[in-house]
Amino acid sequence: MRRRKRNLPLLESVEFTDIGEGGKAVGRHQEKVVFAKGAVPGDVGHVQVYRKKSSFFEGQLTELVKSSDDRTAPFCNHFELCGGCSWQHLNYNAQASFKEAKVKAALERIGKIEVKEWQPILKAPETTQHRNKLEFTFSENKWLTDEQIKSDAEFDRNGLGFHLPGKFDKILHVEQCYLQDDRTNLIRNFVFEKSKSLGISYFNLRAQVGVLRNLIVRNTRIKKWMVILVITEFNDLVNELLQEISNQFEFVSSVFYVVNQKKNDSIADLNPIHFKGQNHIQEVFETPENEKVKYRIGPKSFFQTNSNQAEKLYQLAYNLIAPQPHETMYDFYTGTGSIALFFAKAIQKVVGVEYVEEAVADARINAQENGLENTTFLAGDMKDIFTDEFITKHGTPDFVVTDPPRAGMHEDVVKRLVALKAKRVLYISCNPSTQARDLSLMKDSYTVEFSQPVDMFPHTNHVENVVLLKLK
Ligand SMILES: C[S@@+](CC[C@H](N)C(=O)[O-])C[C@H]1O[C@@H](n2cnc3c(N)ncnc32)[C@H](O)[C@@H]1O
Repeated sequence: MRRRKRNLPLLESVEFTDIGEGGKAVGRHQEKVVFAKGAVPGDVGHVQVYRKKSSFFEGQLTELVKSSDDRTAPFCNHFELCGGCSWQHLNYNAQASFKEAKVKAALERIGKIEVKEWQPILKAPETTQHRNKLEFTFSENKWLTDEQIKSDAEFDRNGLGFHLPGKFDKILHVEQCYLQDDRTNLIRNFVFEKSKSLGISYFNLRAQVGVLRNLIVRNTRIKKWMVILVITEFNDLVNELLQEISNQFEFVSSVFYVVNQKKNDSIADLNPIHFKGQNHIQEVFETPENEKVKYRIGPKSFFQTNSNQAEKLYQLAYNLIAPQPHETMYDFYTGTGSIALFFAKAIQKVVGVEYVEEAVADARINAQENGLENTTFLAGDMKDIFTDEFITKHGTPDFVVTDPPRAGMHEDVVKRLVALKAKRVLYISCNPSTQARDLSLMKDSYTVEFSQPVDMFPHTNHVENVVLLKLK
């Protein structure tokens, strides 16, 4: 629970009607907009303000006067503290409707896009245990709730869990998380108890001392687990802990450690060291033509975090493009080449572009492992790589799939894409606002045939959207 600031008002009986950017419920108090945590549209309730601006208040619902029909009981004890599944109190159908509305509003209002066919959101059949990767942080000064502090009881301050939203140094100890298969809870709780009994120190983020920093757990649908322990130094006790993890769980097929002595937690620029088992885990997707595509996932490989929904997303993309054997494809922002490889068996040639070099190396290995010789993966920034020279070298493709990060595509990339004149473009986006902005730059040359959101992230306000464009 957020610690209250003094002298900020308590707003009474605010009526909530919508959800705003960031996923908070939106209501009104006199002339001002109210964004509140803890509320859902349809609720009426009192809000303790913690931020006051000239045109809006931000606050926390403290008392419900009338409960929304869409409200449901949160399933997790860590709800509201952890910030991970902030829509747990909104039933799943309502979550899906709000995501659909968010996409429609962005495309129509921001992009002024005319969409020929709107399809309802592809809901996630599993709304818990759907992630394939989680990262936990060790802390020797875990966060205590107001109630714990007031209780005057003594608490073990060691913790292993998630950062409180927006707080780099505050770690909420997690006992059970519903985001990944329950075996991850077994691993995390085992590592927590074992490391304490071995007496290995936990990292202090402010003082930058202590040995254990992070625990990363990845898994695939074929029930293989990878455990990555991030530490500041390798020693006998860490060796013993890693041995214990390897011995304890037969489903853990791959164990790594990473020595991180930097100030920040990112391991992107560090070299994971293989400790035991295989040096990767494998995921397999199936195309609509029943071709199997294998993906090798190393400790640092990017992979969509919801495998079931990612497979459906790629199948949707495939069906919309309807690839033909003689066709060629560009796959922009290809990551580890997942979409490129998904299409490659069905067409003549694929060129993928991605700026993370390790991801490109993974894409090349994945192409080899799938026996594909018609793929080319290039590392670099899209705006530097996608030039006239690039087009001369690789030819005008029959279709393009583009899947940029939240920021969307650079304006120069959009302009060049328009000039390329590929007959079909499939635009996958995790941010409808930037997708709408980019589409508005393309609308004179392309019609928007189809739009369908896909829910990759239940209980959050995030949504993926797939749009098919056809050259006019
Ligand atoms: C949303 S992910 C898509 C990954 C991939 N298509 C998939 O489905 O797994 C976006 C990717 O774009 C890459 N990226 C971000 N900015 C880029 C840029 N300016 N040029 C090239 N790649 C970029 C990121 O590293 C990331 O791998």
